Amino acid sequence: MLSKLEAGAFEIKKDSRVAKVITFANVKGGSGKSTLCINIAAILIRTGYSVALIDADQQKCSKDWITGTKDKLLSRVQIIEQTDLQAAENVEVDFLLIDTQGSLTKEMAQFLFQSSLIITPCRVSRDDIVGQGWIEIFLKQAGQDVKKPPILTVLNGVNKRSSILSHVIEQLKEDGIQVAKTCISQRVCFAETNVNKISVIGYNKQATQEIVDLTNEALNLIKSEA
Ligand SMILES: Nc1ncnc2c1ncn2[C@@H]1O[C@H](COP(=O)(O)OP(=O)(O)O)[C@@H](O)[C@H]1O
Ligand SMILES: [Mg+2]
Repeated sequence: MLSKLEAGAFEIKKDSRVAKVITFANVKGGSGKSTLCINIAAILIRTGYSVALIDADQQKCSKDWITGTKDKLLSRVQIIEQTDLQAAENVEVDFLLIDTQGSLTKEMAQFLFQSSLIITPCRVSRDDIVGQGWIEIFLKQAGQDVKKPPILTVLNGVNKRSSILSHVIEQLKEDGIQVAKTCISQRVCFAETNVNKISVIGYNKQATQEIVDLTNEALNLIKSEA
């Protein structure tokens, strides 16, 4: 799928010093882990970064998405088969994205603790917020001497005009959760691009802008922690 938008229409500054792991996690299925992982991969590629992806979900949705893609950006994402980060260390890329199925296993712990950033997509639903909470608890249980990556919670599939959204954001912040300023709207294009194995980048202007804004937030957070 060729980009309908002009390249560079949405700028992200490339910083060649970063070579980082971003893990997408929430024990709740359907929260948007694969959707955000794939679209952030596409925007990172468009910015000029090299990106590899580990699909640690047994359903292998992201892997299938990448291997079956006709998207110019996504076809440049390198799939890493090993779910072992040690092996992945030898892969020379700027970013390693890890899509998970969210079960709190030993493998998941390995991913979480080796991440520069954990992104937890969250629908405006009780189950998603509880699922997000499990990731926070999981990290906290590791003890104080273990370095913990920041967690960025992203409200996904939202209606920005809904008053429930602002209440949920307030509540999460009160609970000490770091909530992304960028919320991802509920848009048919996210489901369409999933079915067609492409990204929203260049397919839908508003969705592209949201993904750019979210990626910038994520990169700034990684930089500030470095
Ligand atoms: N912002 C959104 N707007 C509309 N549909 C979405 C959005 N985010 C995800 N979806 C759809 O919701 C479903 C579940 O998303 P997915 O990313 O597969 O979740 P997970 O990987 O957490 O299980 C998919 O069909 C996807 O296309
Ligand atoms: Mg998934």
